[in-house]
Amino acid sequence: MLRIENVSTSFGKRKILEEVNFTVEDNSIIAITGKSGAGKTTLLGIISGLLKPDRGRVIYNGQDIFKWGDYRRSTFRNREIGFVFQFFNLLPDMTSYQNIVYPAILNPASRQIREQVDYLVEYLNLKAIIHQYPSTLSGGERQRVAIARAIINNPRLILADEPTGNLDEKSSQDIISLFKTLRDTKSMSIIIATHDERLVKNADTNYHIDDTVLTDRTPAPKGVRTAPKKTAKTAKKTAKKA
Ligand SMILES: Nc1ncnc2c1ncn2[C@@H]1O[C@H](COP(=O)(O)OP(=O)(O)OP(=O)(O)O)[C@@H](O)[C@H]1O
Ligand SMILES: [Mg+2]
Repeated sequence: MLRIENVSTSFGKRKILEEVNFTVEDNSIIAITGKSGAGKTTLLGIISGLLKPDRGRVIYNGQDIFKWGDYRRSTFRNREIGFVFQFFNLLPDMTSYQNIVYPAILNPASRQIREQVDYLVEYLNLKAIIHQYPSTLSGGERQRVAIARAIINNPRLILADEPTGNLDEKSSQDIISLFKTLRDTKSMSIIIATHDERLVKNADTNYHIDDTVLTDRTPAPKGVRTAPKKTAKTAKKTAKKA
């Protein structure tokens, strides 16, 4: 569905990502891990087309999204991508309900919004707070509203930045099951930036960013032994350190 090719980016003189490559398959959950400041949010920004990398390409359905004009790229974001921001970005003057349906108002193609809202309100347990404003919600409640908003347009790809960061055990489990249900029944793919081991365990693939380099850390299936995967770059770094 989506391919990241040789993406490098820096802020000023600081290199954040170097030569990052990976493919996002249909119906898959990918966890992106790495310590704070490693570049997880930056990578999600690049995938969504919000942040242009210094070098490299993001290919969606065979097309380079950074070759599109701004209008085409924002339509792509609205229709194909649901974004759960690390700090929610809920609109303060709108209630939970208004925040959730807002992306659907921008999308004239979606008709079954009412049913979709009812389903999400039920699933994410939002009934009691549906007419409250964000400033009156707890962190976990804001998080759940932000997740509902990301899903309302039935995107093909969800980008979720620390989606369980503010949630208790039970709410986290619900989010994990919701992501799996969306993958299995709606053919969505989900990329999650996270520190949460439970999310990583439930993902199909785990990419880890360390010192600008992204490597595949997906555990081999039980009974299969493989050598750790290394890119040319990590091999060079390891050689240097030794
Ligand atoms: N617009 C910017 N200008 C300058 N530096 C930036 C900018 N955006 C991000 N950075 C820096 O890039 C680095 C990567 O940031 P990023 O937000 O991607 O990290 P992260 O892996 O998401 O961390 P966390 O786990 O804390 O959310 C950080 O050191 C940050 O300070
Ligand atoms: Mg982040």
